[in-house]
Amino acid sequence: MQEALTFDDILLTPRYSNILPSDVNTESKFTRNISIKIPIISSPMDTVTEHQMAIAMALEGGIGIIHRNLPIERQAEEVRLVKRFENGFIKNPVTVSPDDVVDTVHRIAEENGYKKVPVIDKKGILLGIVTELYYIWPEDKSKKVRSIMKPVKNLVLAREPINLSKANKIIKNEKLSVLCVTDRSGKLRSIVTRKDLEKNQDYPLATKDKDKRLRVGVALGTGNDLLDRARAVAGKGADVLVIDTAHGHSKNVIEAIKILKKDNLTKQIDVVAGNVATKEAVRDLIKAGADAVKIGIGPGSICTTRIVTGVGAPQITAIMEAVKGRGKNTQVPLIADGGIKYSGDIVKALAMKANAVMLGGLLAGTEESPGETLLAGGKMYKAYRGMGSLGAMEKGSKDRYGQAGIKDSGKFVPEGIEGRTLYRGPVCKTLYQLVGGLKSGMGYLGVKTIKQLQQKACPVKITSSGKVENHPHDVTITKEAPNYQNN
Ligand code: IMP
Repeated sequence: MQEALTFDDILLTPRYSNILPSDVNTESKFTRNISIKIPIISSPMDTVTEHQMAIAMALEGGIGIIHRNLPIERQAEEVRLVKRFENGFIKNPVTVSPDDVVDTVHRIAEENGYKKVPVIDKKGILLGIVTELYYIWPEDKSKKVRSIMKPVKNLVLAREPINLSKANKIIKNEKLSVLCVTDRSGKLRSIVTRKDLEKNQDYPLATKDKDKRLRVGVALGTGNDLLDRARAVAGKGADVLVIDTAHGHSKNVIEAIKILKKDNLTKQIDVVAGNVATKEAVRDLIKAGADAVKIGIGPGSICTTRIVTGVGAPQITAIMEAVKGRGKNTQVPLIADGGIKYSGDIVKALAMKANAVMLGGLLAGTEESPGETLLAGGKMYKAYRGMGSLGAMEKGSKDRYGQAGIKDSGKFVPEGIEGRTLYRGPVCKTLYQLVGGLKSGMGYLGVKTIKQLQQKACPVKITSSGKVENHPHDVTITKEAPNYQNN
Protein backbone atom coordinates (compact mmCIF):
# COMPACT_ATOMS: atom_id res chain seq x y z
CA MET A 1 0.00 0.00 0.00
CA GLN A 2 1.28 3.45 -0.88
CA GLU A 3 2.27 5.76 1.98
CA ALA A 4 0.70 9.23 2.01
CA LEU A 5 2.09 12.31 3.74
CA THR A 6 0.82 15.63 4.93
CA PHE A 7 2.38 18.92 6.06
CA ASP A 8 3.42 17.71 9.52
CA ASP A 9 5.16 14.67 8.05
CA ILE A 10 7.85 16.62 6.20
CA LEU A 11 10.41 19.36 6.64
CA LEU A 12 12.55 21.21 4.13
CA THR A 13 16.32 20.84 4.53
CA PRO A 14 18.14 24.16 4.96
CA ARG A 15 20.58 25.16 2.20
CA TYR A 16 23.48 27.55 1.83
CA SER A 17 22.10 31.04 1.42
CA ASN A 18 23.20 34.58 0.84
CA ILE A 19 19.59 35.69 0.55
CA LEU A 20 17.79 37.69 3.18
CA PRO A 21 14.01 37.42 3.60
CA SER A 22 13.76 41.02 2.40
CA ASP A 23 15.39 40.06 -0.92
CA VAL A 24 12.84 37.49 -1.99
CA ASN A 25 10.04 37.85 -4.49
CA THR A 26 6.83 35.96 -3.66
CA GLU A 27 5.10 36.52 -6.99
CA SER A 28 3.35 33.47 -8.38
CA LYS A 29 0.57 32.38 -10.69
CA PHE A 30 -3.04 31.90 -9.63
CA THR A 31 -4.34 30.87 -13.05
CA ARG A 32 -2.95 30.54 -16.54
CA ASN A 33 -3.37 34.30 -17.12
CA ILE A 34 -3.41 35.84 -13.64
CA SER A 35 -0.37 36.52 -11.49
CA ILE A 36 -0.46 37.39 -7.81
CA LYS A 37 2.29 39.07 -5.81
CA ILE A 38 1.60 36.96 -2.73
CA PRO A 39 0.57 33.34 -3.37
CA ILE A 40 -2.44 33.37 -1.05
CA ILE A 41 -6.12 33.05 -1.95
CA SER A 42 -9.08 33.30 0.42
CA SER A 43 -11.55 30.41 0.34
CA PRO A 44 -15.04 30.73 -1.13
CA MET A 45 -16.75 30.05 2.19
CA ASP A 46 -19.63 31.95 3.75
CA THR A 47 -17.59 32.68 6.87
CA VAL A 48 -14.51 33.77 4.91
CA THR A 49 -14.97 35.68 1.65
CA GLU A 50 -17.41 38.39 0.69
CA HIS A 51 -16.42 41.73 -0.80
CA GLN A 52 -14.62 43.10 2.28
CA MET A 53 -12.26 40.11 2.36
CA ALA A 54 -11.86 40.07 -1.42
CA ILE A 55 -10.92 43.77 -1.42
CA ALA A 56 -8.41 43.33 1.39
CA MET A 57 -6.88 40.24 -0.21
CA ALA A 58 -6.47 41.94 -3.59
CA LEU A 59 -5.02 45.10 -2.01
CA GLU A 60 -2.36 43.03 -0.27
CA GLY A 61 -1.41 41.19 -3.47
CA GLY A 62 -3.48 38.00 -3.18
CA ILE A 63 -7.04 37.40 -4.30
CA GLY A 64 -10.38 36.44 -2.73
CA ILE A 65 -13.07 34.12 -4.08
CA ILE A 66 -16.65 35.19 -3.30
CA HIS A 67 -18.59 32.24 -1.86
CA ARG A 68 -21.70 30.90 -3.55
CA ASN A 69 -24.15 30.61 -0.66
CA LEU A 70 -25.77 33.76 -2.03
CA PRO A 71 -28.55 34.37 -4.53
CA ILE A 72 -27.17 35.18 -7.99
CA GLU A 73 -27.90 38.93 -7.71
CA ARG A 74 -26.22 39.16 -4.29
CA GLN A 75 -23.13 37.36 -5.52
CA ALA A 76 -22.98 39.63 -8.56
CA GLU A 77 -23.33 42.65 -6.26
CA GLU A 78 -20.39 41.40 -4.17
CA VAL A 79 -18.32 41.28 -7.35
CA ARG A 80 -19.43 44.78 -8.30
CA LEU A 81 -18.38 46.11 -4.90
CA VAL A 82 -14.87 44.73 -5.37
CA LYS A 83 -14.53 45.92 -8.96
CA ARG A 84 -15.77 49.38 -8.07
CA PHE A 85 -13.54 49.73 -5.04
CA GLU A 86 -11.24 52.68 -5.17
CA ASN A 87 -8.68 53.16 -2.51
CA GLY A 88 -9.80 56.04 -0.33
CA PHE A 89 -13.51 55.90 -1.20
CA ILE A 90 -15.65 54.20 1.44
CA LYS A 91 -18.41 52.65 -0.65
CA ASN A 92 -20.70 51.33 2.06
CA PRO A 93 -20.48 53.95 4.80
CA VAL A 94 -22.41 53.46 8.01
CA THR A 95 -25.47 55.72 7.88
CA VAL A 96 -28.46 56.59 10.05
CA SER A 97 -32.06 57.50 9.20
CA PRO A 98 -33.58 60.88 10.13
CA ASP A 99 -35.89 59.05 12.56
CA ASP A 100 -33.04 57.45 14.48
CA VAL A 101 -32.18 59.00 17.82
CA VAL A 102 -28.93 60.57 18.98
CA ASP A 103 -28.37 57.47 21.10
CA THR A 104 -27.86 55.45 17.90
CA VAL A 105 -25.38 57.95 16.49
CA HIS A 106 -23.47 58.00 19.75
CA ARG A 107 -23.28 54.21 19.78
CA ILE A 108 -21.94 54.16 16.20
CA ALA A 109 -19.37 56.78 17.11
CA GLU A 110 -18.29 54.84 20.19
CA GLU A 111 -18.13 51.46 18.50
CA ASN A 112 -16.48 52.46 15.25
CA GLY A 113 -14.72 55.68 16.09
CA TYR A 114 -16.63 57.52 13.31
CA LYS A 115 -17.09 61.16 14.21
CA LYS A 116 -19.42 61.97 11.30
CA VAL A 117 -22.35 59.86 10.22
CA PRO A 118 -24.33 60.59 7.02
CA VAL A 119 -28.12 60.62 7.24
CA ILE A 120 -30.08 59.03 4.39
CA ASP A 121 -33.74 58.31 3.69
CA LYS A 122 -35.20 54.94 2.76
CA LYS A 123 -34.24 55.39 -0.89
CA GLY A 124 -30.65 56.18 0.00
CA ILE A 125 -30.93 59.93 -0.71
CA LEU A 126 -28.49 61.94 1.36
CA LEU A 127 -30.34 64.24 3.80
CA GLY A 128 -27.54 65.55 5.95
CA ILE A 129 -24.78 64.61 8.33
CA VAL A 130 -24.51 64.34 12.11
CA THR A 131 -21.33 65.04 13.97
CA GLU A 132 -20.65 64.95 17.67
CA LEU A 133 -20.57 68.73 17.62
CA TYR A 134 -24.34 68.81 17.08
CA TYR A 135 -25.38 67.06 20.25
CA ILE A 136 -24.42 66.82 23.88
CA TRP A 137 -24.23 63.40 25.40
CA PRO A 138 -26.27 62.19 27.26
CA GLU A 139 -28.52 65.23 27.44
CA ASP A 140 -29.77 64.89 23.86
CA LYS A 141 -29.93 61.09 23.93
CA SER A 142 -33.50 60.74 22.67
CA LYS A 143 -33.55 63.66 20.21
CA LYS A 144 -34.30 62.68 16.62
CA VAL A 145 -31.42 62.86 14.14
CA ARG A 146 -33.66 64.98 11.89
CA SER A 147 -33.72 67.79 14.44
CA ILE A 148 -29.97 68.05 14.94
CA MET A 149 -28.33 67.08 11.61
CA LYS A 150 -26.57 69.54 9.35
CA PRO A 151 -28.89 69.46 6.32
CA VAL A 152 -27.65 68.57 2.87
CA LYS A 153 -28.17 72.10 1.55
CA ASN A 154 -25.43 73.32 3.91
CA LEU A 155 -22.93 70.61 2.95
CA VAL A 156 -20.12 70.70 0.43
CA LEU A 157 -20.72 67.63 -1.73
CA ALA A 158 -19.07 65.91 -4.65
CA ARG A 159 -20.91 64.27 -7.50
CA GLU A 160 -19.91 60.99 -9.18
CA PRO A 161 -17.78 60.42 -11.22
CA ILE A 162 -14.89 61.79 -9.22
CA ASN A 163 -11.34 60.58 -8.67
CA LEU A 164 -9.39 60.60 -5.45
CA SER A 165 -7.14 63.54 -6.24
CA LYS A 166 -10.16 65.70 -7.05
CA ALA A 167 -11.87 64.63 -3.81
CA ASN A 168 -8.63 65.35 -2.00
CA LYS A 169 -8.57 68.88 -3.38
CA ILE A 170 -12.15 69.59 -2.25
CA ILE A 171 -11.38 68.29 1.25
CA LYS A 172 -8.30 70.52 1.43
CA ASN A 173 -9.86 73.68 -0.03
CA GLU A 174 -13.09 73.44 1.93
CA LYS A 175 -11.34 72.28 5.13
CA LEU A 176 -13.64 69.27 5.45
CA SER A 177 -13.12 66.21 7.60
CA VAL A 178 -15.48 64.14 5.46
CA LEU A 179 -16.74 64.53 1.90
CA CYS A 180 -19.98 62.86 0.81
CA VAL A 181 -20.15 61.71 -2.81
CA THR A 182 -23.61 61.38 -4.37
CA ASP A 183 -24.96 60.33 -7.75
CA ARG A 184 -27.11 62.56 -9.92
CA SER A 185 -30.30 61.68 -8.05
CA GLY A 186 -28.74 62.65 -4.73
CA LYS A 187 -28.18 59.10 -3.51
CA LEU A 188 -25.17 58.71 -1.25
CA ARG A 189 -22.56 56.62 -3.11
CA SER A 190 -19.48 56.92 -0.93
CA ILE A 191 -17.57 59.07 1.50
CA VAL A 192 -13.95 60.19 1.58
CA THR A 193 -12.40 61.11 4.89
CA ARG A 194 -9.49 63.41 5.65
CA LYS A 195 -8.14 60.78 8.03
CA ASP A 196 -7.83 58.23 5.21
CA LEU A 197 -6.19 60.76 2.94
CA GLU A 198 -3.66 61.56 5.64
CA LYS A 199 -2.91 57.86 6.03
CA ASN A 200 -2.37 57.89 2.27
CA GLN A 201 -1.97 54.18 2.24
CA ASP A 202 -0.50 52.75 -0.88
CA TYR A 203 -0.81 49.14 -1.98
CA PRO A 204 2.11 48.49 -4.32
CA LEU A 205 1.40 44.75 -4.51
CA ALA A 206 -2.33 45.02 -5.30
CA THR A 207 -3.77 42.47 -7.73
CA LYS A 208 -5.35 44.54 -10.49
CA ASP A 209 -6.82 44.04 -13.95
CA LYS A 210 -5.79 46.02 -17.04
CA ASP A 211 -8.20 48.82 -16.08
CA LYS A 212 -6.54 49.07 -12.65
CA ARG A 213 -9.54 47.60 -10.85
CA LEU A 214 -8.98 45.02 -8.11
CA ARG A 215 -9.30 41.43 -9.23
CA VAL A 216 -11.81 39.02 -7.73
CA GLY A 217 -12.81 35.40 -8.20
CA VAL A 218 -16.25 33.85 -7.86
CA ALA A 219 -17.31 30.37 -6.78
CA LEU A 220 -19.84 28.49 -8.89
CA GLY A 221 -21.56 25.14 -8.48
CA THR A 222 -22.32 22.68 -11.25
CA GLY A 223 -26.11 22.91 -10.82
CA ASN A 224 -28.77 24.27 -13.17
CA ASP A 225 -27.92 27.87 -12.37
CA LEU A 226 -24.28 27.50 -13.46
CA LEU A 227 -24.51 29.57 -16.61
CA ASP A 228 -26.91 32.21 -15.20
CA ARG A 229 -24.61 32.73 -12.25
CA ALA A 230 -21.48 32.77 -14.38
CA ARG A 231 -22.97 35.29 -16.81
CA ALA A 232 -24.24 37.52 -13.99
CA VAL A 233 -20.85 37.73 -12.31
CA ALA A 234 -19.05 38.02 -15.65
CA GLY A 235 -21.27 41.03 -16.34
CA LYS A 236 -19.93 42.69 -13.20
CA GLY A 237 -16.33 42.03 -14.16
CA ALA A 238 -15.41 38.80 -12.33
CA ASP A 239 -11.82 37.86 -13.18
CA VAL A 240 -11.91 34.16 -12.34
CA LEU A 241 -14.64 31.53 -12.19
CA VAL A 242 -13.98 28.81 -9.64
CA ILE A 243 -15.95 25.58 -10.01
CA ASP A 244 -16.16 24.80 -6.36
CA THR A 245 -17.01 21.19 -5.56
CA ALA A 246 -15.90 18.59 -3.07
CA HIS A 247 -15.23 16.05 -5.86
CA GLY A 248 -13.79 17.69 -8.93
CA HIS A 249 -12.91 14.50 -10.77
CA SER A 250 -16.47 14.09 -11.96
CA LYS A 251 -18.56 14.33 -15.09
CA ASN A 252 -20.41 17.40 -13.78
CA VAL A 253 -17.23 19.38 -13.24
CA ILE A 254 -15.73 18.44 -16.58
CA GLU A 255 -18.96 19.45 -18.31
CA ALA A 256 -19.14 22.69 -16.33
CA ILE A 257 -15.63 23.67 -17.51
CA LYS A 258 -16.64 22.99 -21.09
CA ILE A 259 -19.87 25.01 -20.75
CA LEU A 260 -18.01 28.03 -19.36
CA LYS A 261 -15.32 27.75 -22.02
CA LYS A 262 -17.92 27.71 -24.78
CA ASP A 263 -20.28 30.48 -23.69
CA ASN A 264 -19.70 33.82 -25.36
CA LEU A 265 -20.06 35.76 -22.10
CA THR A 266 -17.73 33.61 -20.02
CA LYS A 267 -15.20 31.99 -22.36
CA GLN A 268 -12.63 34.76 -21.97
CA ILE A 269 -12.54 34.31 -18.16
CA ASP A 270 -10.07 31.90 -16.54
CA VAL A 271 -11.68 28.85 -14.94
CA VAL A 272 -10.33 27.12 -11.85
CA ALA A 273 -11.68 23.63 -11.20
CA GLY A 274 -11.54 21.35 -8.19
CA ASN A 275 -11.12 19.85 -5.76
CA VAL A 276 -9.07 16.82 -6.65
CA ALA A 277 -6.17 14.78 -5.26
CA THR A 278 -4.97 12.41 -7.98
CA LYS A 279 -2.89 12.67 -11.12
CA GLU A 280 -5.69 11.32 -13.32
CA ALA A 281 -8.03 14.03 -12.04
CA VAL A 282 -5.58 16.85 -12.73
CA ARG A 283 -4.90 15.50 -16.20
CA ASP A 284 -8.64 15.26 -17.00
CA LEU A 285 -9.47 18.76 -15.71
CA ILE A 286 -6.61 20.31 -17.68
CA LYS A 287 -7.75 18.41 -20.75
CA ALA A 288 -11.28 19.79 -20.26
CA GLY A 289 -9.86 23.33 -20.29
CA ALA A 290 -9.18 24.29 -16.65
CA ASP A 291 -6.85 27.29 -16.23
CA ALA A 292 -5.84 26.16 -12.72
CA VAL A 293 -6.67 23.13 -10.59
CA LYS A 294 -7.45 23.13 -6.90
CA ILE A 295 -5.97 20.30 -4.83
CA GLY A 296 -7.39 19.04 -1.55
CA ILE A 297 -9.76 16.25 -0.57
CA GLY A 298 -10.33 16.41 3.13
CA PRO A 299 -7.44 18.46 4.60
CA GLY A 300 -9.59 21.43 5.69
CA SER A 301 -9.71 22.43 9.35
CA ILE A 302 -13.53 22.22 9.39
CA CYS A 303 -13.72 19.17 7.17
CA THR A 304 -15.05 15.74 8.15
CA THR A 305 -15.04 14.24 4.64
CA ARG A 306 -12.33 11.70 5.44
CA ILE A 307 -14.04 10.64 8.67
CA VAL A 308 -17.54 10.45 7.20
CA THR A 309 -16.58 8.81 3.89
CA GLY A 310 -13.23 7.16 4.50
CA VAL A 311 -11.97 8.93 1.37
CA GLY A 312 -9.26 11.55 0.98
CA ALA A 313 -5.57 12.12 0.44
CA PRO A 314 -3.06 13.68 2.84
CA GLN A 315 -2.21 17.00 1.31
CA ILE A 316 1.53 16.72 0.54
CA THR A 317 0.98 13.48 -1.34
CA ALA A 318 -2.04 15.01 -3.09
CA ILE A 319 0.13 17.90 -4.32
CA MET A 320 2.85 15.49 -5.48
CA GLU A 321 0.31 13.43 -7.41
CA ALA A 322 -1.18 16.59 -8.92
CA VAL A 323 2.26 17.66 -10.14
CA LYS A 324 2.62 14.30 -11.91
CA GLY A 325 -0.83 14.72 -13.48
CA ARG A 326 0.01 18.21 -14.70
CA GLY A 327 3.12 16.92 -16.42
CA LYS A 328 4.39 19.40 -18.97
CA ASN A 329 1.37 21.70 -18.66
CA THR A 330 3.23 23.87 -16.16
CA GLN A 331 1.37 26.96 -17.34
CA VAL A 332 -1.64 25.57 -15.42
CA PRO A 333 -1.15 26.44 -11.74
CA LEU A 334 -1.97 24.08 -8.90
CA ILE A 335 -3.63 25.59 -5.84
CA ALA A 336 -3.11 23.76 -2.54
CA ASP A 337 -6.46 24.16 -0.78
CA GLY A 338 -6.96 23.36 2.90
CA GLY A 339 -5.04 22.18 5.91
CA ILE A 340 -2.64 25.12 6.18
CA LYS A 341 -2.13 25.81 9.89
CA TYR A 342 1.09 27.82 9.92
CA SER A 343 3.17 29.88 7.51
CA GLY A 344 5.63 26.98 7.31
CA ASP A 345 2.92 24.87 5.66
CA ILE A 346 2.71 27.47 2.87
CA VAL A 347 6.45 27.10 2.26
CA LYS A 348 6.05 23.31 2.17
CA ALA A 349 3.08 23.44 -0.24
CA LEU A 350 4.96 25.72 -2.65
CA ALA A 351 8.16 23.71 -2.31
CA MET A 352 6.22 20.63 -3.42
CA LYS A 353 5.34 22.68 -6.55
CA ALA A 354 1.92 24.07 -5.76
CA ASN A 355 1.77 27.62 -7.18
CA ALA A 356 -0.40 29.15 -4.48
CA VAL A 357 -2.38 28.20 -1.38
CA MET A 358 -6.01 28.69 -0.49
CA LEU A 359 -6.81 29.50 3.13
CA GLY A 360 -10.04 29.27 5.09
CA GLY A 361 -9.41 28.84 8.80
CA LEU A 362 -6.40 31.15 8.98
CA LEU A 363 -8.45 34.03 7.54
CA ALA A 364 -11.87 33.34 9.07
CA GLY A 365 -11.01 35.10 12.33
CA THR A 366 -10.11 38.40 10.71
CA GLU A 367 -12.00 41.66 10.67
CA GLU A 368 -12.85 41.37 6.98
CA SER A 369 -14.56 37.95 7.12
CA PRO A 370 -18.38 38.02 7.16
CA GLY A 371 -20.05 37.91 10.57
CA GLU A 372 -19.82 39.52 13.97
CA THR A 373 -17.20 38.93 16.60
CA LEU A 374 -18.36 36.77 19.50
CA LEU A 375 -17.17 37.07 23.07
CA ALA A 376 -16.66 33.88 25.09
CA GLY A 377 -14.62 33.37 28.24
CA GLY A 378 -13.06 36.82 27.89
CA LYS A 379 -11.75 36.13 24.36
CA MET A 380 -13.04 37.35 20.99
CA TYR A 381 -13.95 34.87 18.29
CA LYS A 382 -15.55 34.74 14.85
CA ALA A 383 -17.72 31.94 13.52
CA TYR A 384 -16.12 29.55 11.05
CA ARG A 385 -17.96 26.68 9.41
CA GLY A 386 -17.47 24.19 6.60
CA MET A 387 -19.49 24.65 3.43
CA GLY A 388 -20.48 21.04 4.02
CA SER A 389 -21.74 21.72 7.55
CA LEU A 390 -25.47 21.45 8.18
CA GLY A 391 -25.86 25.22 8.54
CA ALA A 392 -24.04 26.02 5.29
CA MET A 393 -25.76 23.24 3.35
CA GLU A 394 -29.14 24.61 4.42
CA LYS A 395 -28.01 27.96 3.00
CA GLY A 396 -27.32 26.45 -0.41
CA SER A 397 -23.99 24.65 -0.62
CA LYS A 398 -25.52 21.16 -0.53
CA ASP A 399 -24.70 20.60 -4.22
CA ARG A 400 -20.99 21.01 -3.39
CA TYR A 401 -21.42 17.63 -1.68
CA GLY A 402 -23.59 16.02 -4.36
CA GLN A 403 -26.79 16.43 -2.30
CA ALA A 404 -28.60 19.06 -4.39
CA GLY A 405 -31.68 16.84 -4.73
CA ILE A 406 -32.28 16.54 -0.97
CA LYS A 407 -35.01 18.90 0.24
CA ASP A 408 -35.27 17.84 3.89
CA SER A 409 -32.23 19.12 5.81
CA GLY A 410 -32.71 16.25 8.27
CA LYS A 411 -31.52 13.99 5.45
CA PHE A 412 -28.27 15.81 4.73
CA VAL A 413 -25.06 13.88 5.32
CA PRO A 414 -22.73 16.73 6.35
CA GLU A 415 -19.00 16.70 5.63
CA GLY A 416 -18.05 19.67 7.75
CA ILE A 417 -18.53 21.19 11.17
CA GLU A 418 -19.54 24.59 12.54
CA GLY A 419 -17.25 26.26 15.01
CA ARG A 420 -15.41 29.40 15.93
CA THR A 421 -11.89 30.69 15.63
CA LEU A 422 -9.97 33.34 17.55
CA TYR A 423 -10.46 36.90 16.34
CA ARG A 424 -7.24 38.11 14.75
CA GLY A 425 -7.86 41.75 13.78
CA PRO A 426 -7.36 43.08 10.24
CA VAL A 427 -6.41 40.49 7.63
CA CYS A 428 -3.35 42.53 6.57
CA LYS A 429 -1.74 41.63 9.91
CA THR A 430 -2.32 37.91 9.37
CA LEU A 431 -1.04 38.15 5.79
CA TYR A 432 2.03 40.04 6.97
CA GLN A 433 2.93 37.15 9.27
CA LEU A 434 2.16 34.47 6.69
CA VAL A 435 4.17 36.16 3.96
CA GLY A 436 6.90 36.95 6.51
CA GLY A 437 7.14 33.23 7.32
CA LEU A 438 7.26 32.38 3.62
CA LYS A 439 10.06 34.88 3.03
CA SER A 440 12.06 33.59 5.99
CA GLY A 441 11.60 30.03 4.71
CA MET A 442 12.90 31.08 1.31
CA GLY A 443 15.84 32.75 3.04
CA TYR A 444 16.73 29.45 4.80
CA LEU A 445 16.62 27.70 1.45
CA GLY A 446 18.68 30.31 -0.37
CA VAL A 447 16.02 30.95 -3.01
CA LYS A 448 14.85 34.27 -4.35
CA THR A 449 11.74 33.25 -6.26
CA ILE A 450 8.91 30.74 -5.96
CA LYS A 451 10.24 29.00 -9.05
CA GLN A 452 13.64 28.51 -7.40
CA LEU A 453 11.88 27.30 -4.26
CA GLN A 454 10.15 24.65 -6.33
CA GLN A 455 13.37 23.62 -8.05
CA LYS A 456 15.74 23.60 -5.11
CA ALA A 457 13.77 22.58 -2.00
CA CYS A 458 14.74 19.24 -0.58
CA PRO A 459 11.97 17.74 1.57
CA VAL A 460 12.60 15.02 4.13
CA LYS A 461 10.11 12.79 5.85
CA ILE A 462 10.21 13.08 9.62
CA THR A 463 9.18 10.81 12.46
CA SER A 464 6.70 11.38 15.27
CA SER A 465 9.55 12.48 17.56
CA GLY A 466 10.55 15.01 14.90
CA LYS A 467 7.00 16.38 14.97
CA VAL A 468 7.17 16.81 18.74
CA GLU A 469 10.51 18.58 18.36
CA ASN A 470 9.00 20.94 15.73
CA HIS A 471 6.73 22.64 18.25
CA PRO A 472 7.77 24.46 21.40
CA HIS A 473 8.30 21.75 24.00
CA ASP A 474 9.12 21.38 27.66
CA VAL A 475 8.12 24.97 28.40
CA THR A 476 4.91 26.77 29.23
CA ILE A 477 4.14 29.52 26.77
CA THR A 478 3.57 32.74 28.70
CA LYS A 479 3.04 35.18 25.85
CA GLU A 480 1.17 34.65 22.61
CA ALA A 481 3.19 34.98 19.40
CA PRO A 482 1.40 36.58 16.44
CA ASN A 483 2.22 33.61 14.19
CA TYR A 484 1.95 30.61 16.49
CA GLN A 485 -0.91 28.93 18.26
CA ASN A 486 -1.08 25.33 19.25
CA ASN A 487 -4.60 24.27 20.09
P1 IMP B 1 -8.76 25.35 5.96
O1 IMP B 1 -7.93 26.46 5.39
O2 IMP B 1 -7.92 24.24 6.51
O3 IMP B 1 -9.73 25.86 6.98
O4 IMP B 1 -9.55 24.70 4.74
C1 IMP B 1 -10.39 25.44 3.90
C2 IMP B 1 -10.84 24.59 2.75
O5 IMP B 1 -11.64 23.48 3.19
C3 IMP B 1 -11.76 25.29 1.75
O6 IMP B 1 -11.07 26.10 0.85
C4 IMP B 1 -12.47 24.12 1.07
O7 IMP B 1 -11.75 23.56 0.01
C5 IMP B 1 -12.56 23.09 2.15
N1 IMP B 1 -13.89 23.03 2.77
C6 IMP B 1 -14.74 24.04 3.03
N2 IMP B 1 -15.84 23.60 3.66
C7 IMP B 1 -15.67 22.29 3.81
C8 IMP B 1 -16.48 21.26 4.39
O8 IMP B 1 -17.53 21.49 4.98
N3 IMP B 1 -16.00 20.00 4.28
C9 IMP B 1 -14.84 19.70 3.65
N4 IMP B 1 -14.03 20.64 3.15
C10 IMP B 1 -14.45 21.92 3.22
